[in-house]
Amino acid sequence: MLYALPSEKRGVVKILKQYQQHERENLQALLSTFVQADDVATLMGHFDAGWLKLLNHGDFKRWSSGLLSLPKIEVTDIELKTSVRVGTKDSCDTTQTDIEASLKALFPWRKGPFDILGVRINTEWRSDWKWDRVLPHLSPLAGKRVLDIGCGSGYHMWRMLGEGAKSVVGIDTSSLFALQFAVMKRYLPHADVFYLPTGIDEMPGDMQCFDTVFSMGILYHRREPIEHLLKAKSLLAEGGEFVLETLVVDGDEQRCLMPHKRYAKMKNVWFIPSVAMLEIWLKRAGFSQVSCVDLNVTSTEEQRCTDWMQFESLADYLDPNDPSLTVEGYPAPKRAVMIAKV
Ligand SMILES: C[S@@+](CC[C@H](N)C(=O)[O-])C[C@H]1O[C@@H](n2cnc3c(N)ncnc32)[C@H](O)[C@@H]1O
Repeated sequence: MLYALPSEKRGVVKILKQYQQHERENLQALLSTFVQADDVATLMGHFDAGWLKLLNHGDFKRWSSGLLSLPKIEVTDIELKTSVRVGTKDSCDTTQTDIEASLKALFPWRKGPFDILGVRINTEWRSDWKWDRVLPHLSPLAGKRVLDIGCGSGYHMWRMLGEGAKSVVGIDTSSLFALQFAVMKRYLPHADVFYLPTGIDEMPGDMQCFDTVFSMGILYHRREPIEHLLKAKSLLAEGGEFVLETLVVDGDEQRCLMPHKRYAKMKNVWFIPSVAMLEIWLKRAGFSQVSCVDLNVTSTEEQRCTDWMQFESLADYLDPNDPSLTVEGYPAPKRAVMIAKV
């Protein structure tokens, strides 16, 4: 069965507002079980502000039309532990071509892959490879209240749920990712996994309520990395676990790279420390039991341009004569996974 595609933006907005209202009520109910009332009120204010921004985004109509033209069916065949998949091509009568066209209206797809009703979204990033590197080092997520800072389209949040997390809240400032997340939520409307469209700076301080906080792929975008770590710590309950994944450079505890302008063509990269310096940052922010559990040079198989993300990707950011360097002459992207406790 196909959702009727509204011809007017007003119609699209009305349906999206129903989704927003559903998410709002369920998120508020969830947060009220473990977050103080004044912080819940603050967070719901940010939820509303994020949605207002989304509804006014220039690409809103394209994205939401794609989302709403996906089959509105109940799907019971779901895989979240070994991959992120809802249904198969036999779950509905809609053709694979039509499903693909609906999903492509939400391009570019950067984080994934997702399998939606038989269509494979071959995203720019193999986020599943990152998860495979992180997962073996985590304290079990079963029964945990999880926060994912900079959650992107939510790929890792679904994998966290697949590991048995009690609830997962993701925060991210991207409107497109909010609607890509809504694709999965269309088929898992009752999952305690929520996208809160806001930034880390908007989170109230000292919430001390999450069992595990993830910050993956975001620290190097922060101008105040120590503030970021302090904020993450303040969100964790006593005994909680912090999982930090970020860019690093080789070198001793004295070394940290600050690019002059761009790093791998990105304008918003500020600090890339060595692992040894990162350990000091974490300890000075008040974390204990700090350890680096994984180091990985990002490959052009892990981050590449695909049919679902046709812009430039890692291969275009590296020196064609020496792929160990970025086009700016800096060391090519290398990532560390750090685990720390409060
Ligand atoms: C490189 S992506 C990482 C996504 C995902 N965590 C991963 O590891 O694949 C960084 C994400 O952080 C988000 N972001 C940027 N600034 C943010 C902020 N101040 N608060 C929360 N998220 C932010 C971006 O929108 C983007 O989705």
